[in-house]
Amino acid sequence: MTVADSPTDSSVDSSAHSSGQPAGYLVPTKQVRISDLKARKGSGDPFAMLTAYDYSTASAFAQAGIEVMLVGDSAANVVYGYDTTQRVSMDEMAFLAAGVVRGAGNALVVADLPFGTYEASEEQAVRSSTEMLRRSGAHMVKIEGGVRMASKIRAITDAGISVCAHIGFTPQSVNQLGGFKIQGRGSGADQLFADAEAIQEAGADMVVMEMVPAEVAKKVTAALEIPTIGIGAGPDCDGQVLVWHDMVALPDNGHRPRFAKQWAHVGADLTAAAAAYKKEVAQGTFPAEEHCFSDSVLR
Ligand code: KIV
Repeated sequence: MTVADSPTDSSVDSSAHSSGQPAGYLVPTKQVRISDLKARKGSGDPFAMLTAYDYSTASAFAQAGIEVMLVGDSAANVVYGYDTTQRVSMDEMAFLAAGVVRGAGNALVVADLPFGTYEASEEQAVRSSTEMLRRSGAHMVKIEGGVRMASKIRAITDAGISVCAHIGFTPQSVNQLGGFKIQGRGSGADQLFADAEAIQEAGADMVVMEMVPAEVAKKVTAALEIPTIGIGAGPDCDGQVLVWHDMVALPDNGHRPRFAKQWAHVGADLTAAAAAYKKEVAQGTFPAEEHCFSDSVLR
């Protein structure tokens, strides 16, 4: 495993601690690989995945030791301001993913295939996966769907490309699913198990499970050999993922999914900083002397 099991593990960059960062910044010193995450399954050592959409945030998350970064098509909402993830294009995703890869350090980078770029045929799925990896340098692609996407997953993995599947609530199908609804409840658990088995059988290397009951996610995690990554799926998955805006309250509008916790309030801080800047510009207190170049410095 490239990520330390304990702070004393020699693969941890101890400079992270000596540089004043809090304990817990266990920064992988080697490229995190899918085999590392698979080896970690069942070890009681869950890994952390966060979405990232640009170079600067990816760099910050790499410094925090985040093991996996997801260039999610949630970019449709949080970067581009569309109302659904169905609106984002391959171009819009590939440019973001390339920036994330440049900032991700040793993190494994997963890139979402946008809606409409893989569902039509196995050939389309392979072509889009190839395009995404070639243009961005990401390590694997993620596609939504279980049983219904098994033949596409098989085709992509047969082409030598790793796939992260996404089951449970699948945002690209929000209209078909009748809105943002918890999946896998009651008899829905049978479908979730069927989806999980189908994507593993088809060769997926990991699976995101979104908005499913914690008890069901625990059983699916125990039944699968590949790592499960939960978002609104309880504590027993092999890893967890969040949209980074949700974990830092950006924007500060009070609308956050129940499954997300906030560790900072970046939206409020950003607004306060922008307001303070505006005020100082208006008052003429910014720029001050220390922000100015003197004639002698220029010479
Ligand atoms: O696009 C995304 O951010 C995702 C996460 C919700 C897992 O798929």
